[in-house]
Amino acid sequence: MVAGAMAFAPAMAQTPLKMAYALSKDSHYGAGAKAFVESLGANNKDFVIEEFPNSALGGEREVIEGLQLGTVDVAIVSTGATLNFVPQTGALDIPFLFADLDHARGVLDGEIGQGMLEKFPEHGLVALAWGEQGFRHLTNSKRPVENPDDIKGLKIRITENPIHLKAFRELDVLATPMAWPEVSTALQQGTIDGQENPLSVIVSTKMWQLQPYLSMTGHVYAPALVLMSPAVYDSLSAEDKAGFAEAGKAASKAMRAYVDQVEKEGLETLKANGMKVNDVDYAAFEAAVQPVYPQYYDQFGQELIESIRKAK
Ligand code: PAF
Repeated sequence: MVAGAMAFAPAMAQTPLKMAYALSKDSHYGAGAKAFVESLGANNKDFVIEEFPNSALGGEREVIEGLQLGTVDVAIVSTGATLNFVPQTGALDIPFLFADLDHARGVLDGEIGQGMLEKFPEHGLVALAWGEQGFRHLTNSKRPVENPDDIKGLKIRITENPIHLKAFRELDVLATPMAWPEVSTALQQGTIDGQENPLSVIVSTKMWQLQPYLSMTGHVYAPALVLMSPAVYDSLSAEDKAGFAEAGKAASKAMRAYVDQVEKEGLETLKANGMKVNDVDYAAFEAAVQPVYPQYYDQFGQELIESIRKAK
């Protein structure tokens, strides 16, 4: 093409897409979003992703509703939120189910996890890939929690997740389901004593500014998901769909890398900032929530739960 023709060539319009997530750009979700944007940009110049971090488009429940309605295009969310839309994902939220990160990643990357991703379109959503947060631990403002007796009576914010709620009630915790955007104010005002999240969240939100105690309960693995609105996805060419799937995988890889890093170095950061960190009697916590397992078996099937547990 000659230079003159180039000058008059019409500019190709890029389609803007809104990507929502609950945490800052400097978090595992931010790392996932960055990798998503880079992967997509390398393969496809037709789309431009506009990031909305820090719950700028609302809590995770609202964001998922936005994906269904087509007002949000892409999102990274936790399964605490998806289970109210795609009930099967709740099986992964059962406390003390996974032994370690490798175990969880193996299940998500295997038949069970990939099969769950395929269920999303039945619920008006597209799941591109599993992301990750890590294992959840407890923070609070009252005392070090080392065994199940210490946690009794604490008012702890949990996600809007009935699977977690059952286990915390069994531990006699005053469990308070609450959307994430309300948590920091509730902690500041003392309407709740604590919250539980993985190191990825505790470090990236500088939780030491609000909570003095961190107890390494590791009570449940927290997957995340890269979701898309069918309103966008269904209109894509096969080639573009492959590009978005690739971007989802890149986001997942980046989130896992962030989690690996924060699991290695996060505790030092928290201690250096004055947080009092303690180990817990893990076996005692695990035993204390066992009475809830029959309810989980009724809900998800004992066979599925046992096959997740054994898939090591
Ligand atoms: O605790 C939660 O609600 C979630 O773990 C969070 C922090 C919003 C990330 O998905």
